[in-house]
Amino acid sequence: MRTFSIVKPDAVAAGNTGAILQSLEAAGFRLVALRLVRMTKAEAEGFYGVHRERPFFSSLTDFMSSGPAVVVALERDDAIRELRRLMGATNPADAAPGTVRARFASSIERNAIHGSDSPESAAFELGYFFPGVELG
Ligand code: TYD
Repeated sequence: MRTFSIVKPDAVAAGNTGAILQSLEAAGFRLVALRLVRMTKAEAEGFYGVHRERPFFSSLTDFMSSGPAVVVALERDDAIRELRRLMGATNPADAAPGTVRARFASSIERNAIHGSDSPESAAFELGYFFPGVELG
C-alpha cells in the first residue's frame, strides 16, 4: 500500500532532505513519485484544510509556504502506520529517540516531516500533489 509524505521546508533548508529520504528507504519504503514544490499559501491552506479552525493554522500555512518542500509518494506494507512510527510524535520533545522528528525537528511546527494519518487522508494527499497516483 501507499502513503504520502512531505520533507518540510525546515528540513529542506537545513540540508536534511537526503538523510530523511535515506531513513525512509532504509525502513523499506520505495519511492513511487517525488517532487520539489514551493507551495503557495493557498496550496498550503488547501492541504491542511482539516486544521482550518485550529489556532496554529495561519502560522503553519505560512511556514509550509515559506520555502521549497519535497513531496513524496511511498510504498511498503502497512505504509501509513509504519511511516507514522518512523516520524515520531508531532512535538519533537515527545518523539522517540531515532525517529525523524527526534533527529531533525526543531519545534512542534517546524517538525521536519509530514505523513498521512489514515487511508482517507493518504488518498486525499496523494491526489493533491500527484494526480493519477492511486493509494494502491
Ligand atoms: P497534526 O495533524 O496534529 O500532527 P501530525 O503532523 O503529527 O499529523 O498537525 C499537523 C501539523 O500542524 C503538525 O505537523 C505541525 C502543526 N502543529 C502546530 O504547529 N502546532 C500544534 O500545536 C499542532 C498540534 C500541530
